Amino acid sequence: MKIVTVLGARPQFIKAAPVSRALRQNHQEIIVHTGQHYDANMSDIFFEELNIPKPDYHLAVGSGNHGKQTGEMMAKIEEIVLNEKPDYVLVYGDTNSTLAGSLVAAKLHIPVIHIEAGLRSFNKLMPEEVNRILTDHISEYLFCPTDTAVENLKNENITKNVINIGDVMYDAVLYNRELAKEKSQILEEAQLKKGEYLLITIHRAENTDDPEKMKSILQAFSSTEETKIWPIHPRTKHKLADYGLNVEEIPNLKIIDPVGYLDMLTLEANARKIVTDSGGVQKEAYFMEVPCVTVREQTEWVETLEGEANILVGTDQAKMTEAINKEVKPEYKQLFGNGEAASKIVEVLEDRLNA
Ligand code: UD1
Ligand code: UDP
Repeated sequence: MKIVTVLGARPQFIKAAPVSRALRQNHQEIIVHTGQHYDANMSDIFFEELNIPKPDYHLAVGSGNHGKQTGEMMAKIEEIVLNEKPDYVLVYGDTNSTLAGSLVAAKLHIPVIHIEAGLRSFNKLMPEEVNRILTDHISEYLFCPTDTAVENLKNENITKNVINIGDVMYDAVLYNRELAKEKSQILEEAQLKKGEYLLITIHRAENTDDPEKMKSILQAFSSTEETKIWPIHPRTKHKLADYGLNVEEIPNLKIIDPVGYLDMLTLEANARKIVTDSGGVQKEAYFMEVPCVTVREQTEWVETLEGEANILVGTDQAKMTEAINKEVKPEYKQLFGNGEAASKIVEVLEDRLNA
């Protein structure tokens, strides 16, 4: 089997690590990095830490408006796919790199494998929602992380080759958790004590593109004296500067550059609570059994809301503060598979190939 994998953004590198490892045992994989994320701490660090094979092609598309960014990716991916003639094109999640890869493949009649299919927020104002709906509707294999995702696809009349194999991000956490304990020094470096800080990540366009929402989020952070660590996404850093919003007055807040995966797992595992608008971080909070507060109006990961393991608060300052302070005692369940999603994907593809 020859597969062209298209990726380009931070969470996709993490998802690719277990899948590439499983695929490459018996098959050929060509990795195309679109260059959507390009800072060393948004890209290279993950390839190094997670032993992801070096991309065969690097498109260096970089940042830009959606149309330009996606269009440039498509033109370059098309050339590669025509040249490489793969059996499948594989894409992850819901970024512009996902859409570019899937759209090119579908037009060339190359079957698309979508990993993390079926997620929905039911909010088409999110660029991710548009990307994933379109990708799901042109994919041949739809590997879902949850039963909810399978159900979402059924509701859109997509049932062929829809399989819940669990979450590849859970595979990645299980594989790297011990390694993180061994290697990461981040708690010492940032002078943090287990269970005595909040971990913050914010990057969603719906939040960062609205100065009022960002103001409200910062006010919620100001309302607590608790130590807070915030590895800041470059998008958010740029936006705070554009809006002239000052974070220096916020008590006990440490803003740091984005961290590598092993440091991030360590920060997550040892936090008292995690405050985020990230999809991946919501799930990792659940895997680590650390309560989460999600700064969004909807979540695709509805399972995590049970027992208030994750509380959806939007950007209302009072709601955020209340959720941050709330004592919760959720019962964590194994909702995201058994950590073998990647090998199951390969098994399914091999079975179909031999059928
Ligand atoms: C993208 C995805 C989002 C995903 C996120 C993961 C889309 C539409 N969005 O959002 O679904 O959750 O990645 O992190 O695909 N920037 C840098 N250096 C980098 C990368 C980005 O400075 O290495 C800055 C640039 O100012 C850029 C901005 O961040 O304009 C946004 O980057 P972009 O990739 O367009 O979107 P993300 O917000 O990262
Ligand atoms: N992550 C990381 N370093 C950071 C922030 C996040 O390694 O400084 C990891 C995090 O552990 C998770 C993934 O990046 O595996 C989530 O990516 P992100 O929040 O950028 O995107 P989303 O999941 O919302 O699409």
